[in-house]
Amino acid sequence: DDADALARFDELVAHEQRIEPRDWMPDAYRKTLIRQISQHAHSEIIGMQPEGNWITRAPSLKRKAILMAKVQDEAGHGLYLYSAAQTLGVTRDTMTDQLISGKAKYSSIFNYPTPTWADMGAIGWLVDGAAIVNQVPLCRASYGPYGRAMVRVCKEESFHQRQGFEILLTLMQGSEEQREMAQDAVNRWYWPSLAMFGPPDDQSPNSAQSMKWKIKRFSNDDLRQRFVGMLVPQAEILGITLPDPELKWNEETGAYDMGEIDWDEFFEVLRGNGPCNAERLERRRTAHEEGAWVREAAAEYARKQALRTEG
Ligand code: ACO
Repeated sequence: DDADALARFDELVAHEQRIEPRDWMPDAYRKTLIRQISQHAHSEIIGMQPEGNWITRAPSLKRKAILMAKVQDEAGHGLYLYSAAQTLGVTRDTMTDQLISGKAKYSSIFNYPTPTWADMGAIGWLVDGAAIVNQVPLCRASYGPYGRAMVRVCKEESFHQRQGFEILLTLMQGSEEQREMAQDAVNRWYWPSLAMFGPPDDQSPNSAQSMKWKIKRFSNDDLRQRFVGMLVPQAEILGITLPDPELKWNEETGAYDMGEIDWDEFFEVLRGNGPCNAERLERRRTAHEEGAWVREAAAEYARKQALRTEG
């Protein structure tokens, strides 16, 4: 019965075993996973837009090929993640409807504009850097399909982070104007990338339960702290200043002191009022509508194939 099933579930989680799609699981666990994995998938798909914006304007053929490959990787990540969510019983159509109707959340970070080429560097270095810090622990998520999807995603994210770092390094070794462009991009992306980790621990309603279930392994603030620790030495190599005058190593706490993140801005972005929310959704909606003929053709092909095998 349910009590036995719950005991078995708890035991699997306690012993670092994986929960698989056909295993019994509490409804709330299933719901949390669908929420997080679908939001994660939507983030990858919407995340193609800020960088897609620069594919036609990349400064060389090589840069263009790299950027195109990167944006395609993001499409791939979205697809693994939608597939992982589907194993929990939600359909792809439902998730798509939730996204294009504006009901679903996706990462706040993708609602900021990309006005210069240096933004490609800052996104790779900061946004993909934050994604790695957040996602490496998710490779050990208790839900099998999610954890396994994360392994490949993280390998690709590491490459993305390095390519971003390399774009910034090249700019920093260039003209005065290029150095200013790199610094300006980092100034604009630094704070939103810290906010990616989610609200502070005392305002994170889902963290405690997700950590008990071993979906999340570390709290939002712990990961944010780890991320800043990773950035500081890399910023030194770049010769870039992280735009937080209060950022300082604290010997006593063994952690960085930081300035306050603008949480009002974060919650406004979540409510749909960030600088690019409307544009991102509109673009996704149009792409979906313009793809209708592909879905219809595929369905028609499948129907004819089925008739043929019947006959
Ligand atoms: N952007 C948008 N929404 C956010 C963000 C963010 N940066 N951070 C938190 N939220 C939302 C949560 O989804 C949650 O909303 P909901 O309850 O309506 O679903 C609410 O704010 C409260 O936050 P938490 O209780 O802290 O939520 P949670 O435990 O899910 O932690 C986190 C949030 C850390 C983002 C977690 O869901 C996670 O690790 N997700 C997987 C990683 C991911 O989605 N990354 C996407 C960006 S990286 C990339 O795609 C390159």
